[in-house]
Amino acid sequence: MQALVFDRPALDTSATRIARLEPPTPGSGQVAIRVAYAGINFKDVMSRRGDPGYAPRWPFVPGVEVSGTVVGLGPEASGHRVGDPVVALTNEGGLAEIAVAEAALTVPMPAGLDPGRAASAPGALTTAILLHDHAARVRAGDIVLVHSAGGAVGRSLADVARARSGARLVGVVGAATRVGTARDAGYPTVLVRGDALAADVRAGTSGRGVDVVLDPQGTAFLHEDLAALAPGGRIILFGNAAGGELAALPPTHLLYRHNASVGGFSLAALSADAPAMVAAAMRAALYMLAAGESTSEVVVLPGLAATPDAQQALADGAGRGKYVVRVSG
Ligand SMILES: NC(=O)c1ccc[n+]([C@@H]2O[C@H](COP(=O)([O-])OP(=O)(O)OC[C@H]3O[C@@H](n4cnc5c(N)ncnc54)[C@H](OP(=O)(O)O)[C@@H]3O)[C@@H](O)[C@H]2O)c1
Repeated sequence: MQALVFDRPALDTSATRIARLEPPTPGSGQVAIRVAYAGINFKDVMSRRGDPGYAPRWPFVPGVEVSGTVVGLGPEASGHRVGDPVVALTNEGGLAEIAVAEAALTVPMPAGLDPGRAASAPGALTTAILLHDHAARVRAGDIVLVHSAGGAVGRSLADVARARSGARLVGVVGAATRVGTARDAGYPTVLVRGDALAADVRAGTSGRGVDVVLDPQGTAFLHEDLAALAPGGRIILFGNAAGGELAALPPTHLLYRHNASVGGFSLAALSADAPAMVAAAMRAALYMLAAGESTSEVVVLPGLAATPDAQQALADGAGRGKYVVRVSG
């Protein structure tokens, strides 16, 4: 089979190639899927960079999410039959003609949903639903600050908040070039990250501050996040976009001072520990897509050969929407 391979850690596309590999065999509780479409995610960039914990071996086949058809079942894999059209969270190995996924993280493709769009559901949109409903428990009336609001997760969070809580959103982006993208996704207020972030947030919320901060920027802005919180506010850390060392959490007295909570979210860890919760969120994400509740643009690339440039665009912060690649079929 053909697959996209990272040979070694690299900051550019120099160690990325399309390779011919033996197809993977589904293990216990897993299914093999002929991949029709696979999503491209910032996690590909983090594994390509060699961030700790992302690529467990080299060469490495990235690919978090797929749509396609079940072509094999491992021992103890229940709930699916060969020939079923499905959508799956693979966590790795999705950018290949055949991928394996846990049966528990594989869900039926909704009838009538475009399989290219469906392949965009398990990563960003599922993450947004889990952040909104479970990690941050966003409620109607909350004001929610979203860092990296112009990225795929940020845009999905706007869709999810619109559909599920009606929470008021404040978007934050790292460059003025991403303001328009975040506005178009549904953020009425978009701030460009700068030295006065907390002051800007307070100015934009009549001094009140925000109830929730969703932050994929590691610990780089944690003190600004704390200073931007309303009493009882909560911060959910869910990424480390720049890579590098994570700092310690703020000292306890600062949490008292701000009546604040700090939590974390990882889709990969949750899919290992609570696959049924992740699968339910994937079904909800697919329902949103089928119901037209997600406005995020999906850019379909014609084949694996187009993937390295799209991954580089994400690495450069220059993505043009959510990328999905047609792999076979
Ligand atoms: N915890 C989880 O399970 C989980 C799941 C999905 C995604 N994530 C994380 O969420 C973040 C966004 O993912 P996405 O799918 O929305 O990706 P995306 O569409 O590629 O957007 C990534 C965003 O990260 C920022 N960025 C890009 N390169 C950067 C760099 N070198 N240093 C600092 N910031 C950079 C940019 O936002 P700015 O405008 O802020 O600069 C960009 O819009 C990523 O960090 C990803 O790893 C975590």
